[in-house]
Amino acid sequence: MTLADDQRFLGRGGLSHRRPSTFGRFHFGVCYYPEHWDDRTRRDDAKRMADAGMNVVRMAEFAWSVIEPKPGSFTFAFFDDVIGELADHGIDTILCTPTATPPHWLLRRHPDMVQITASGQPLIHGSRQHASYFHNGFRAASREITRAMAEHWRNHTSVIGWQTDNEFHCHSGTDYSEAAVAAWHVWLGAKYETIDRLNATWGTAFWNQTYDAFDNVPLPKADAPTYANPAHHADFLRFLGDGVSDFQREQVTILRKTNPGWWITHNGVFEPLDYRGQLTGDLDVLGYDVYSMFHTPERRAARQAFNCDRVRGFSGNFIVPEHQAGAGGQTEYMLEQPMPGEMRQQVYRTIARGADSLLFFRWRSCRVGAEQYWLGLVDHDNVGRRRLDEATQIGSELREIGPKLLGSTVAIDCAMAECDADVAIGHNACTLGLPEPKSIASDVHDALLSAGLSPGCVHPSDDLSGVGLYIIPHWAIFDTAWVEQLTSWVHQGGRLVVGARTATRDLANNIVPDTLPGVLRDLAGVTISDYGPLHSEGRPVHLDNGIRGQHWFEAIEPDDGTDVLHRWDARALGNPPAITRRTVGAGWVSYVGTYLTPEVIGTLMPTWTADFPRLRLSDLPADIEFVRREHPDGSVIDFFFNNAVRGSIAIPVSGTALLGETDGAQMTLPPFGVGVVMSEMPTSRSASPRPDAV
Ligand code: GAL
Repeated sequence: MTLADDQRFLGRGGLSHRRPSTFGRFHFGVCYYPEHWDDRTRRDDAKRMADAGMNVVRMAEFAWSVIEPKPGSFTFAFFDDVIGELADHGIDTILCTPTATPPHWLLRRHPDMVQITASGQPLIHGSRQHASYFHNGFRAASREITRAMAEHWRNHTSVIGWQTDNEFHCHSGTDYSEAAVAAWHVWLGAKYETIDRLNATWGTAFWNQTYDAFDNVPLPKADAPTYANPAHHADFLRFLGDGVSDFQREQVTILRKTNPGWWITHNGVFEPLDYRGQLTGDLDVLGYDVYSMFHTPERRAARQAFNCDRVRGFSGNFIVPEHQAGAGGQTEYMLEQPMPGEMRQQVYRTIARGADSLLFFRWRSCRVGAEQYWLGLVDHDNVGRRRLDEATQIGSELREIGPKLLGSTVAIDCAMAECDADVAIGHNACTLGLPEPKSIASDVHDALLSAGLSPGCVHPSDDLSGVGLYIIPHWAIFDTAWVEQLTSWVHQGGRLVVGARTATRDLANNIVPDTLPGVLRDLAGVTISDYGPLHSEGRPVHLDNGIRGQHWFEAIEPDDGTDVLHRWDARALGNPPAITRRTVGAGWVSYVGTYLTPEVIGTLMPTWTADFPRLRLSDLPADIEFVRREHPDGSVIDFFFNNAVRGSIAIPVSGTALLGETDGAQMTLPPFGVGVVMSEMPTSRSASPRPDAV
C-alpha cells in the first residue's frame, strides 16, 4: 500500500482550518514514562489514571534502547506488560516511534550520523535530536525500529494510534553534515532539473555565484564571508523541511501498511517546516504541545489563544499530545507554577480553540535527567496533590463535554493570513532586521480579541467563508495563485487589510519585477512610489494623527477611486498618502503603508470594525474571553473564560450549561473560571448577519 491508497489521512486537500478531527472519542490522558520507574512506584499508576478519568496514554518516544537494547535484538516484554496493565483499566495507548533519541550503539555504528552545526561542530549523544534526518544508516535504523514495533503491536486492540518521533526541529533546525550535503544535491537536481535553471532562478550572476553542476552547490553558511543569496538560503530551509517530511513518510508508510486502522499524528510546530505540506498531509491529525507557562502572566491567555488559533490554521482541529501539567524547568531555568484553577482554564482554552483530544505532560515528575523540575500531575514522591485533583476534575467534566465537542469546528468572524512556510522561510532568509510576519500576526490577533472579535489564522488559499475581515500582515512573498479567490471574496463583501511590503517578493525569494504592490496593485488600487525602513530614533516619522510609524514607511499614489485615510507627516518627505481604502464590489481593500504595530492597529480598528457583525455575544464584560465551537447542524458550544485574575464576573447566558453554575439567566465565573454553554441555535448576536452575508 502506498500513502495514496489510504483515503483517510489528511492529504494536502484536507488541510483546512475548518476541518474537525476524525476522532470517534475525546482522548484524555497523559504522557507516560514507565521506563523511568521501578515496578513498586508504578504499581498503581493505571488504576490512578483511570480514577482520574483518563482513557489514553502516550508512550515510548524516548525508549528505543528499552525495545532494541542491542542492534537487531528486540524485546517488547516491558511495554507489553505496561500496555496490558493499562488496557485492563480501560486505558488505550498511543505509541511513538522513538527516533528522537537513537541509542548509543547506533552512533557507534555510524559515527557520522549526527547533525553538524553551521560552524562545523558535530552534535553529540547525551540529550536528544542529534541525528541527521538525511543519514542513510539512521534512516534504515528508523525504518527497522518502526517496522519491529508496528509488527509486534499490529493486533493489539488497545494500541490505537501513533505519534511519529517527537517535535521535529524543536532543538536543531539545521544540518551541515555530509549526508545533508549529498541529499541537498539530489534535492536541487529534482527541483531544478538543469543547473542553468537554478542559476537563473537564484540570480547567481550576482557576485559571480554561477554553478556548473548541482554537486558543486554549497550549503549557505552563517560563517560565510558575508550575506548569503536569499534565494539560495530559502531553498536550503525548504530542503531541511522536506528532509524531515521524507523521514516521517518512511515511518508513516510502514505504520499504515501494518495496520490501516491506526491513526497517526506528530507533535509540532517548529520551523522551518511546512505544516501545510507533506509533513501534515501524511498524518490523520496534527498535534501541538501547549506550554503556556512560557509566557508572562499578562500575556499568557492571549499568547495561548494565538498559538492554538495558528495551529488550527494549518489543518483544522488538532490533538494536544502534551499539555503543561505544572511548573516547567530544565537545568538552567524554571517556569512559574500554574495557580489553582489556571491549568484547568488553560486546558479548556486549548479545547475551545480546536483541540479534539488532550494529554498532559506528564504523569509523574521525574527524579532524574534534564527535566527533573518539569512537573507532572503526580509529584516526585508519588503523591498526587492539587494538580492531579484538577486533572481529575477535568477528566470527569470531559466525560460529558468531550463527546459533545467532536464534529464541531471553531467559529471565527475575522482572520489573519498565517501558516505559510514560504512566507516564514522567505523572511528568515532576508529579514532586513524587520519583525517576522508571525509576530505581527500575533499583535493583530491581540488587537482583534480586545476589540471583541473572534479571530482565526487562515491561509489565503483556504476557505474564507464566514470571515468578514481579513488581514495580511506583511507577506513579502505572495503567490499570484492566491489573488483570484481573494478578489472574489472582497467582491462578495470581504474587508481586506494589506500591510506594507506585501507581494514584493516572488516564490524564489527575489524581488518581483512589477510596480509595487505587485500582484495586489489592482485589487488595492495603489502604487507604492517610495519606501524605506523607519528605525532612526533621531528622525521619527509620524502619521497625520500623531501616531509614530515604525519599522517601515511607504508613500502611496492612490488610483482614481481609492480614498486616502491617513497621510504621512514627514517633513522632507512631505505628506504623501500612507493608508488608503478602496471600495471593491460589496467589500473594500485598505492598504496600510507601514507596519501593523499595536498603535497603528488601534487607530485603524474602528474603521475596520464599524458595523461589524461579531460572533461574540453583545453583553459580555471585557475581561471575558469568548470562543464558540459550532456543529454543522447549527448547534453551538460557547466557552467563557474569566481572564480578570482577581474577582468573579457574572455573565448573562442562555442555553444548557455544561460547565459552570447558572440560574438560567446568569453564570458567575470566579478567577480562572470557565463556563461552557450549549445551545441548539446561536444565541443573540450584537449585530445582524453572518459576516459572509455582508
Ligand atoms: C516538549 C517535549 C517533551 C518535554 C517537554 C517539556 O517540547 O516534547 O519531551 O521535553 O517539552 O520540556
